[in-house]
Amino acid sequence: MTYDSAYDWDAAAAAFDEEPDHGLRDPRVRAAWAGRLRDWLPAAPADVLDLGCGTGSLSLLAAEQGHRVTGVDRSRAMVTLAREKLAGRDAVFLCGDAAAPPVGEQRFDAVLVRHVLWTLPDPGRVLRHWRGLLRPGGRLVLVEGVWGTVSPVGIPADRLTALLAPLGGQVCLERLSGDPALWGREVDDERYAVVALSG
Ligand SMILES: C[S@@+](CC[C@H](N)C(=O)[O-])C[C@H]1O[C@@H](n2cnc3c(N)ncnc32)[C@H](O)[C@@H]1O
Repeated sequence: MTYDSAYDWDAAAAAFDEEPDHGLRDPRVRAAWAGRLRDWLPAAPADVLDLGCGTGSLSLLAAEQGHRVTGVDRSRAMVTLAREKLAGRDAVFLCGDAAAPPVGEQRFDAVLVRHVLWTLPDPGRVLRHWRGLLRPGGRLVLVEGVWGTVSPVGIPADRLTALLAPLGGQVCLERLSGDPALWGREVDDERYAVVALSG
């Protein structure tokens, strides 16, 4: 993965789901993510905000598990695909900035973000804003990593947990590199999820 802030997500949207962990089309990959998500999200039904939702693959898993989903993505093409993917579900998709999602006064039981935080300027400030979008007892579910070996990009787990520390609450780190079912192949770079429970 070599995405950065200049990446053209509108142009990438049509082919995005071709990667096994993006489209979750392989039943084994899909089941692996569904199992993790069930562990990370609160009991259903909960209000889940999926930021940088892309084509809505995780949004769909959350909706299938009985959650009400709001997805936000800056790419109009991604939002269009997410709306198609979740047509008829209890889900709403908005175009907007994940760093300052256009959700007004609405608050959520979980803010779910996969492979987006590392691209945002000032992630510490963004995490504080996301925590403010949670109801009491809510949680951040952050799936991130560091990709590539020559010029690695991403956010290492120790940096992300350090950014979360000032927010208080319990932080649980789950390493994901050792589970090829999530990625559709063996991987040897750093991949992980952090669940941060608000205090
Ligand atoms: C690697 S994809 C991840 C998509 C989805 N979270 C998933 O895991 O399948 C990154 C997504 O974040 C979106 N994105 C990047 N920067 C954003 C921003 N500042 N605000 C909203 N969406 C953003 C892109 O349009 C793209 O859909």
